[in-house]
Parts: sequence; structure tokens; C-alpha cells
Amino acid sequence: MDKPVRASDTPFAIDVEQGKAYFWCACGKSQTQPFCDGSHKTTPFRPVRYEATETTKVYFCGCKASGNSPLCDGTHKKPA
Ligand code: FES
Ligand code: FES
Repeated sequence: MDKPVRASDTPFAIDVEQGKAYFWCACGKSQTQPFCDGSHKTTPFRPVRYEATETTKVYFCGCKASGNSPLCDGTHKKPA
């Protein structure tokens, strides 16, 4: 099983808008982190859709190892 690229050691704090959909990059190759830019085409990964239920700040996983993707669950603090 291929592993995603660790795009960042920390999460991305993003202001999301209620009712809007966001596509989180699961492969780690996107140049527009934390969102998908289509670079996953050469990988087995696909983006993960996230729909904001409220207008707020959320923390999208940058390490791509979260057990609660697309959101950060603190896994990035564990040694690889
Ligand atoms: Fe990573 Fe699309 S670029 S999932
Ligand atoms: Fe991936 Fe926190 S950035 S779990």
C-alpha cells in the first residue's frame, strides 16, 4: 500500500463557510495544501470531501496520517 506524502508536520487552519464543500488532499502531493489540485492522478489516493456545517475555523490534516481525516486528530505529533 502506497503511503501519502507528509505535506506538513502541522495542520492547516482554514476559515470555512457553512454549506460549502472542500476537497482535502489525501495524497499529500497537491501544491495547494491542504486542498486537492489534481496531483493525485498518479497515486492510489482520492480527495476527501468535507462539507462545512458552520462558518468557522477548522484544522485540516497536513501530515496525511490522521485517523479522522480530513481533520487533524493530533497524530502528527507521534514519531513516524
Ligand atoms: Fe492529493 Fe488530489 S492532489 S488528493
Ligand atoms: Fe495530520 Fe495533525 S496534521 S493529524
